[in-house]
Amino acid sequence: MRIDIRGVRKTYPDGTEVLRGVDLSIAPGEGVVLLGANGCGKSTLMRCMLGLERLTAGEIEIGGVKLHRARRAELRRLRARFGSVFQQFNLVGNLSAHQNVLFGRLGEHGLFGSLALTAPKAAREQAMACLERVGLAHLAARRTDTLSGGQQQRVAIARMLMQDAQLVFADEPVASLDPRAGREVMDLLFEIVRERRLTVVCVLHQIDLATAYAERIVGLKHGRVAIDGPPAAVDAAAIHDLYAADRAAAALEEPHVHAPRAYAPRSAAV
Ligand SMILES: Nc1ncnc2c1ncn2[C@@H]1O[C@H](COP(=O)(O)OP(=O)(O)OP(=O)(O)O)[C@@H](O)[C@H]1O
Ligand SMILES: [Mg+2]
Repeated sequence: MRIDIRGVRKTYPDGTEVLRGVDLSIAPGEGVVLLGANGCGKSTLMRCMLGLERLTAGEIEIGGVKLHRARRAELRRLRARFGSVFQQFNLVGNLSAHQNVLFGRLGEHGLFGSLALTAPKAAREQAMACLERVGLAHLAARRTDTLSGGQQQRVAIARMLMQDAQLVFADEPVASLDPRAGREVMDLLFEIVRERRLTVVCVLHQIDLATAYAERIVGLKHGRVAIDGPPAAVDAAAIHDLYAADRAAAALEEPHVHAPRAYAPRSAAV
């Protein structure tokens, strides 16, 4: 699915100006990793793409549908094709892995169809096959809140398979995982993404993972796209600059840290 983001601005109701004119086109099947300092607006941009935020200006078109002009049913159909793997494992904790994967078909079978044992046999079998694909068939009956972080992300990936997602949004999918489990989840996610030629937008904070998995790196700074290119063309200085503290902004937020303080040990005064 193609994504076109044109002149997007987002200011939250409290006046926080986060996106200040983002222009970005992502081709079908492209693997984009989104980088940027904490608070620069990566999750906000992702929520805008998911149609969860009202834009202050600009427009987003996905798969030929203009999100903010689409009718509700059209939006629901489109969103049914969005897979998501988020940092805080967005699963239903008190349901089994198998039931969570069945949720991938929520739109088709309705809430109760997805939850109950009455979900069509074919769907139940397919959910098992998806769990098998991510190596978790043996844990199908386990409540997901008893699974490890890496296992929970696998369930989210299985759910994405069940959904037959065309577009994958991953917001810090490995942030809570140890380096090895993180690599395994990234391997699995990108293996599936490449196998099915899915479009993926993945927010990461690990530069090494970004350069290992991305086809294209997009860096956000000051509410705009500051870096855009294949990993080989993005140099270390540009990435360093992406995370360099913005002195003016930092001084506004934490004036006490930057105020010069005279060194006067108490003992000297006694
Ligand atoms: N609902 C909201 N209302 C007001 N401000 C918000 C809201 N959500 C986010 N913000 C602010 O918008 C800015 C961008 O937040 P966002 O979560 O998009 O950043 P991020 O790049 O994802 O950061 P991180 O790397 O820490 O996840 C931050 O300053 C945040 O405090
Ligand atoms: Mg975020």
